[in-house]
Amino acid sequence: MSTNASVTNSADATARMHALHAMVEDGLASLLKEHAGEPTELYGPVRYALEQRGKRLRPLLALLTCEACGGKAEDALPAALAVEVFHTFTLVHDDIMDRAETRRGRAAVHRQYDENKALLAGDYLMGLSYDLLARAERAELRPMIRSFHRMVARLCEGQALDEAFESRTEVTKPEYLDMIAGKTGALIAFAMEAGARTAAAPDAFIDSATTAGAQLGRAFQIQDDYLDLMATDPNWGKPIGGDLVQAKWAYLLLH
Ligand code: IPE
Ligand code: IPE
Ligand code: MG
Ligand code: MG
Ligand code: MG
Repeated sequence: MSTNASVTNSADATARMHALHAMVEDGLASLLKEHAGEPTELYGPVRYALEQRGKRLRPLLALLTCEACGGKAEDALPAALAVEVFHTFTLVHDDIMDRAETRRGRAAVHRQYDENKALLAGDYLMGLSYDLLARAERAELRPMIRSFHRMVARLCEGQALDEAFESRTEVTKPEYLDMIAGKTGALIAFAMEAGARTAAAPDAFIDSATTAGAQLGRAFQIQDDYLDLMATDPNWGKPIGGDLVQAKWAYLLLH
């Protein structure tokens, strides 16, 4: 199956998802090959972070949105990989901020190495994500980079609020929703926006994809808050109850 035009039923859709997933994994595997050098104090933790497998939700959304807007998924691969590498960077730094010991079923990067190496590996991955984004189609590059940085700003704002809320005795639901729109919604929104932009979709489509991503991101974070306490799947890969230990204003606490 080579084009989205042939996706007409759920078996086709599942096969297409597997193909897109494989495309993302292959792209990330090629990136790993590019990062085998010296000093190992830097590339060791960089490789360790990149090797840990996640669900690949965000790059898949970028590829799927591109196809849904009539584009070719292959063309959105650089942006999809940029999104996943950037996501990986945020996890490395988030685990330092949240004092989380495990990630994706293994020791978090700062536990496997140390905090300074994890900070630096995160910085490196952030730079790499811009390099990957710059491999997008030239016509799309300028708006893509500007949106990417707006996303970075929103995500950092969300993370700053998440931490600031730890010392608050009251947080309202609108405040919480704004915080998660930043820390989680912004990147998922960008993933879908990037897919639509790569397909050269009309502005209205790009706006709809971005809005859908933001709402999906919000729902995804509420689910993550729930699973932080309730996950039973052995593949969850993160500590259970970490939000409570860390005095996080997670969704369950609002009720
Ligand atoms: C974890 O994201 C961070 C959140 C925004 C909740 P994921 O749950 O997508 O993590 P991976 O990539 O599958 O490990
Ligand atoms: C995720 O928030 C937001 C970012 C990583 C930017 P969490 O702190 O809830 O994510 P997990 O639960 O550690 O994956
Ligand atoms: Mg965390
Ligand atoms: Mg966090
Ligand atoms: Mg969480």
